[in-house]
Amino acid sequence: MPAKTTICTAIPYVNSIPHIGTALTTLSGDVTARYERMRGRDVFFVAGTDENGLKIKEAADAQGRDVHEFVDEIAGRYETIFQGLGIRYDAFIRTSKEPHRVASRALFQRLMDNGYIYEGTYEGWYDVTTETFFKESDLVDGKSPDGNEVRWVSEKNFFFRLSAFEDRLLKLIEENPSFIISDTRRNEVIAFIKQGLRDTAVSRANPGWGIPIPGHEDQVIYVWFDALINYITATGWPSPGWEDKWPALVQWVGKDILTRFHATLWPAMLMGADLPVFQHVAAHGWILLGGEKISKSKGNVVAPLELAQDIAVRSGCAPEIGVDVVRHYLTSISSLETDSTFTYEDFDRRYNSDLANDLGNALNRSLAMAHKFVGGAVPDGAADPEALAAIQLARESYDRAMTEFRLGPATEAAFGLVRFLNKYIDTRAPWALARTQDLALPSVIRSMLLCLRSVEALVRPTMPTTADAIAAQLGLPPQTMWEAIGSEASLPAGTALLTPQPIFPRLEIAKPPPAEKAPKAPKPEKAPKPMKPAYEPPAEIGIEDVMKVQLRVGRVLEAEALEGSEKLVKLQVIIGTERRQILAGIRKSYAPADLVGRQVVVVCNLKPAKLMGQESQGMLLAADGPDGQAILLMPEAEAPEGTAIH
Ligand code: MSP
Repeated sequence: MPAKTTICTAIPYVNSIPHIGTALTTLSGDVTARYERMRGRDVFFVAGTDENGLKIKEAADAQGRDVHEFVDEIAGRYETIFQGLGIRYDAFIRTSKEPHRVASRALFQRLMDNGYIYEGTYEGWYDVTTETFFKESDLVDGKSPDGNEVRWVSEKNFFFRLSAFEDRLLKLIEENPSFIISDTRRNEVIAFIKQGLRDTAVSRANPGWGIPIPGHEDQVIYVWFDALINYITATGWPSPGWEDKWPALVQWVGKDILTRFHATLWPAMLMGADLPVFQHVAAHGWILLGGEKISKSKGNVVAPLELAQDIAVRSGCAPEIGVDVVRHYLTSISSLETDSTFTYEDFDRRYNSDLANDLGNALNRSLAMAHKFVGGAVPDGAADPEALAAIQLARESYDRAMTEFRLGPATEAAFGLVRFLNKYIDTRAPWALARTQDLALPSVIRSMLLCLRSVEALVRPTMPTTADAIAAQLGLPPQTMWEAIGSEASLPAGTALLTPQPIFPRLEIAKPPPAEKAPKAPKPEKAPKPMKPAYEPPAEIGIEDVMKVQLRVGRVLEAEALEGSEKLVKLQVIIGTERRQILAGIRKSYAPADLVGRQVVVVCNLKPAKLMGQESQGMLLAADGPDGQAILLMPEAEAPEGTAIH
């Protein structure tokens, strides 16, 4: 194996700027690279741009621009956007630049020398959108299988003897079950190869743009053929030293470019040039919007940095945290087997549930309780075996997912630990331990903080800025070594903790207007209700009466409809360090799930009462809305739970 762990990503065309779909491929590479670095590997992570296509030349021509200047500008925008998304590559390969031209010509020459390139005449269809050749029988209603326009091409070309590699490719795939990541994709590729591979045209008439064929300057290398070579250009091939970086551990691609290109043509090119084949190719599904693949040619794009900026403005989180929100969202929804649908509602919902509620609460509560009960410093001693087991489980699940390049399940493993932590706090109830001066209190607080420290590391590959913010609030340097996750040494006793600062303020999601109700027939037997009197000032009271009512900020941890009641919702509310059960008659106005994570105003010194056999230990303040609706009051900005209200 080479000294370096090389991670490559499909390089996007530079005919327009990236959307969340194109960003997903490069982001997947970045998350993998960050994880591998934390595992202690010497990572070489490569990104780049695909610049030699005919469609790039045509896009520049259409704008009356010099093609060099055009690709420089768009490649620059790609780099700005990738970097803005926190994507930290070690090399960025631009295929119109000299090092790649040299490597491409050298590889082409080697394939010629090895007898895998021959001259012929190509007659068929060409799809400029995907830069792909199609046979007549591939077309659907006169268009490419993706629905793109095709043009007839009849020209003298060079051909690559792809048919010669059928058996070797099948052997490679069958002997290395994890070469193509996910069994679904692997089976698709095997079926494709078994249909028979045709030799493929690998040059085009020179349109004044592209990489000329050695000795035949009237022809340029077919853009896919040269683009694939970028992965080896990055290693410095053919100059000495490339062996330190090749074969790559993984090549990340989208499912559309797996079968024809990365799982057949590219490994065959490497075999033909006597070069080792990469270890894995991982293909993610598409991101869909409104049921269709997000695509610049369809114009239904969502720009990743705008999405990050927008969530920051709407929620009040820091702009860099907004970037982490997008990274978290994309990696959570990405799948190796299926497509994923993007909706703004789902994006907002996940922000509130995963980040504001689960992660935000775990951080705020753990730190607030450490300040309140153990003086704001990490307690000495050992953590609870239950917490250590949960950390171990999360880490193992994360590792297992990452050996199969499953980013969604890896993220899920990290958030499993977040949810464990919130449950652990609820069940171990440090406030109750403090009240009874239970000796377990320091160990419980230490366990909470160790979970948080481990969460910091587990979310680091996807949310690096958030991880740094968690470390800072723990008063510790970033935890960047995977091996240290869950170790007592990762959380030195006595470390002074910072006052908790919310990283993910809750997002107010506009409630859709209530559906129009069908007009009800009047009930004739009942006399009409008297009109509600207009507001009449009640008898005055003194400030001492107002002060008798103790109001505090609370946060809903759990909410469920109370069985047998149409009106009542049973809530578990955290008020400072105390947890209370409150029954509120708000079911007609709020779905229980929408209440979880919300801050509320609680009357804390109301006598407990029994409603439908259940105790209610307080009351929520709400305004009387029209039609008997309730409109819950909440602080205008997030305030720590337990804050007094006057
Ligand atoms: N230039 C080629 C790749 C050459 S690699 C040697 C190309 N470019 S692309 O701009 O069309 O796509 C770049 C990456 O984005 C690919 O991995 C592609 O699968 C991915 N995606 C483009 N649109 C996508 C979605 N809507 N959803 C998810 N990924 C998709 O192909």
